[in-house]
This record gives sequence, structure tokens and C-alpha cells, in this order.
Amino acid sequence: MKFKLRIWRQKNAQSQGRFVDYELDGVSPDSSFLEMLDLLNQKLILEGEEPVAFDHDCREGICGMCGMMINGVAHGPKAAITTCQLHMRTFKDGDTIVIEPWRARAFPVVKDLVVDRSAFDRIIQAGGYISVSTGSAPEANAIPVPKKTADMAMDAATCIGCGACVAACPNSSAMLFTAAKVAHLNSLPQGQAERYDRAVLMVEAMDREGFGGCTNIGECEAVCPKEISLDFIAMLNRDLLIGTLKGAGQR
Ligand code: SF4
Ligand code: FES
Repeated sequence: MKFKLRIWRQKNAQSQGRFVDYELDGVSPDSSFLEMLDLLNQKLILEGEEPVAFDHDCREGICGMCGMMINGVAHGPKAAITTCQLHMRTFKDGDTIVIEPWRARAFPVVKDLVVDRSAFDRIIQAGGYISVSTGSAPEANAIPVPKKTADMAMDAATCIGCGACVAACPNSSAMLFTAAKVAHLNSLPQGQAERYDRAVLMVEAMDREGFGGCTNIGECEAVCPKEISLDFIAMLNRDLLIGTLKGAGQR
């Protein structure tokens, strides 16, 4: 397959970026999107040009590193997958593909398609943990957790922190990510002791990082590779309201 690639090139956070056009031939329809970029980079290296920087790690839809905008859509045109799970057979031979980094103030561009998502780590640090000592591994059924609750916590825990929700949101809101991280702990018995502190502290951290507010547009849910539900945002808002009324998060 042959493609015209229009890729955002930017040396670092300070420099001004621009689109650069490339032509790439000989792409296997069965190659992944990142393998297609590998092929391009091999060509650029052989031609003495600087390869395109992009993030990746697992290449299996697990680590959340490979996020990029493909033709204006976070992770590309197919629902519920990451960029590394996208195959070139999704596109038509001869297509032009526009590739950009996530665009959000809280995710500054590091180089080309790589952005700094450490703001997510700081949100997690603010409360995405359980500090109560739970001792060594207990017998599996010692703490009764109804199946429905365990499933809900598991659904929230599938968030891989890719940042597509932020990139797709016109407000660059991190509410879906934060809500998923809050919900997976706040749903379980072990998370109750710090439930309201967690909600308040993580939303405060989110605001500090410069993410925008949520106005229920739903673009985040539409692009999320793990299909995290907007329902978790409703749960977060409830815990945030109760927490604020209780004066939580004052530690
Ligand atoms: S909520 Fe979805 S889109 Fe947002 S960081 Fe988690 S997995 Fe990625
Ligand atoms: S490289 Fe890990 S999710 Fe894509």
C-alpha cells in the first residue's frame, strides 16, 4: 500500500512545530500503524533525516503510551482500540493520513508526536491509592464484594491513562481519566476510608494541572480505547459534592 503522510514535526516544547509531508510505499496492509511509522523512520534514517519521535511500549493496547491524533481522531478511525492496535488495512491505498500529537495545555509537546503526560501521574499521586494497610494477601472471600461491584471497579480500572479523552475533549478535560481512577478504588470496600478525600484531592490536582472542566460533551467516551463510561463522571461528581460538603481533602 502507498500513503501520503502529513506529520507534525516539532523539535521540542519551545520550538514552533509544522506539518511535513512524506510519501511511503510498500506498506503491508497487515502492519500496525506503529509498524508503518517504523518503516517510515527506517527510510528517513537511510536518507540521513531525523526519524519521527513517537511514544510506545507494549504495542498491545495495554500501556497507553502510543496516543496520537490520526485524521483528527484520537487513536484513529476505529472504536475501542489504541493506535498500536490499528492496522493499515483500515485505510485505503493512496490515502492521505494526517498525524498529530495530543493537543492540550496540560500535555506539552516534548518532540514531534510525543507529549508529556506526567500531569496524569500527579493526579494519581494526589489520591489514586489506598494508604490503609491491608496486611498480607487475605483469603479471596474474606472481604465480601458483590459481583456487580467488582465488575464496576474492574471496568474503571481498565483505564490505561492514554490521554485520548483529554485530546478529544474541546475543554481538554481530564474528567473521564480522573473519574475512572477515583471510581475503581471508591467502588470497593478497601477504598471507603479515603473515598471523599480521594475525590476532592484528585479533582483539585486535575484543576491545578490546567485541564479544563467537563461539560458533558461525551467526546471522551467516544474515543476511549477501553470504553470507559461517562457514568463514572457522574459517580465522581457525586463523591466530589459529598466530599466538599464534608470538608474532605484537608490533610
Ligand atoms: S479514560 Fe480512556 S481515553 Fe482516558 S486515559 Fe483512560 S483509557 Fe485513555
Ligand atoms: S504501545 Fe502500549 S497501548 Fe499502544
